[in-house]
Amino acid sequence: MSADKEKDKMEAQNKIPRHVAIIMDGNGRWAQKHNVSRISGHNAGMLAMKEIIKRADIMGIKYLTVYAFSTENWKRSAEEVGGIFGLLVKYVASELRELDENNVKVSILGDYKSIPRSAVASIEKALDTTKDNDGLFFNIALNYGGRQEITRAARKIAKLAIQGLINPEDVSEDTVSEYLYTGEENGNIPDPDLIIRTSGEERMSNFLLWQCAYSELAFSDSLWPDFTPEEFETIVRSYAGRERRFGGR
Ligand code: IPE
Ligand code: IPE
Ligand code: MG
Repeated sequence: MSADKEKDKMEAQNKIPRHVAIIMDGNGRWAQKHNVSRISGHNAGMLAMKEIIKRADIMGIKYLTVYAFSTENWKRSAEEVGGIFGLLVKYVASELRELDENNVKVSILGDYKSIPRSAVASIEKALDTTKDNDGLFFNIALNYGGRQEITRAARKIAKLAIQGLINPEDVSEDTVSEYLYTGEENGNIPDPDLIIRTSGEERMSNFLLWQCAYSELAFSDSLWPDFTPEEFETIVRSYAGRERRFGGR
């Protein structure tokens, strides 16, 4: 390889985003299109997710966050909600060993302790098994809501202030960040560089509201179960060509 080409390659690699977050949307429409149950759609979505995790790891992405269940998703039927958590338990049971062998560290963003008990147990097993891994940091936003997360941080900070442990004048953006799910409790996950949403919808749906302040956004028309590692890689590479300004000129 010529020196120039080598340099180009290095530059492209340097631009691989450190943190990619995904709003995995479209399982229901995929199910409808294929005339199967919504749960079958979520199952197909889990299979897609498995492949994306592998590709993210190969590409050298350090943090991958997926939106799996929002605080608003409880509005769905008990059957669908139960089915989603059931799939989660099944997925963890069948994949945990491989994730661990690949040095993947699983974290949960969200109030996972209030999901069904069997799912909590399976999540806790995944957290515990992978806690010392330092390969891909794979974060699952589960029973997650951005407003709920910011409110929770505000409550924590207010308590510290009442206890005299923090001076209200000293509450900074960094203080707020510290008390989010992405803060200290999960090893300080950097803000996402790139957020991808599938299924043609173009909204945040309460995902990482604080952390997305300067994220690049990408939208795909693919329904989540149809989203391939190739498309993922193309989107991530195209991110390398974008100029991020952070408010500067
Ligand atoms: C995303 O797919 C998965 C979850 C929200 C759990 P949807 O279930 O929202 O799929 P659509 O939007 O109905 O197609
Ligand atoms: C966002 O998708 C939540 C997840 C992908 C888990 P939704 O399908 O719930 O969002 P809305 O209702 O279309 O905004
Ligand atoms: Mg949806």
